[in-house]
Amino acid sequence: MMKIKKAVIPAAGYGTRFLPATKSQPKEMLPIVDKPTIQYIVEEAVKAGIEEVLIITNHQKQAIENHFDRSLELEYFLEKNNKLEELEMVRDISKLINIHSIRQKEAKGLGNAILCAKCFVGDEPFAILLGDDIIVNDEKPVLAQLCDTFEKYQSSVVAVQQVEAKDISKYGIVNPRYINNKDVEVIDLVEKPNVENAPSDLAILGRYILTPEIFNILETQAPGHNGEVQLTDAIKTLLLKEKVYAHKFEGKYYDVGKKIGFLEANIDFALKRDDLREEFMQMLMKKVEDYKFDK
Ligand code: UTP
Repeated sequence: MMKIKKAVIPAAGYGTRFLPATKSQPKEMLPIVDKPTIQYIVEEAVKAGIEEVLIITNHQKQAIENHFDRSLELEYFLEKNNKLEELEMVRDISKLINIHSIRQKEAKGLGNAILCAKCFVGDEPFAILLGDDIIVNDEKPVLAQLCDTFEKYQSSVVAVQQVEAKDISKYGIVNPRYINNKDVEVIDLVEKPNVENAPSDLAILGRYILTPEIFNILETQAPGHNGEVQLTDAIKTLLLKEKVYAHKFEGKYYDVGKKIGFLEANIDFALKRDDLREEFMQMLMKKVEDYKFDK
């Protein structure tokens, strides 16, 4: 039985939807409450049993590499000032997992970013977690759910969830053949279809397990939507060679690469925190009241 040991986190996009915040810092480092987005994602990979992570970066993304490295100066300062809880928190991040990074030379699309992982992955199936998608499931992380599905079918698996009609044109959409109420065989895929042409409302949301055959396809893949090399197009070609499955995952999905998703994640995560809940809720309720009154 093949176990998924390697994960790739693409994080080399420009994050144009989050300018000016992303002018000189990676969007993957924007915090949800007080933790950078990419740390939630690496923690999900660790919980799913991943052993090595490769982050696809670019020259402006050193903050990501530094975040997962030790910071001896900071550790010294915290120790000297007897801030032991913070010291442990900072040290734990650098011990999470082995993190590698490679630079994508030009932001030519998600498909091109994944191709940069070819040498790291080698000849085994691997996971992809998008650097700006947080999915919460406290019992079983979505990547662990996908690993179970991979074990069942021994084929590539993408994570899907139903989305509202107005959102269909934002995602890769699956044409499904249902196996049971959670798993489907993917018959076809369309990147960002109009709602009228969409084969279903099942959207691919930020998590994948793919066989290494994808690299052979990406090497010759022409740019698609937006002039970018699209991963969805490569998976569509993969379908001609191998079976691909989709798993309807359990979990709350946040696209924190767009403003409204980022704001929602901050609210939900703050409301879950024992140290913030009460005060934050009072504040929110007061704001809503004042807002209504102002109108
Ligand atoms: P997005 O399309 O959400 O990222 O790609 P983006 O291009 O940075 O965002 P906008 O649309 O300009 O706001 C999904 C993931 O793929 C990475 C991104 O960093 C993000 O985590 N990506 C995208 C790359 O690594 N390289 C690329 O060329 C494009």
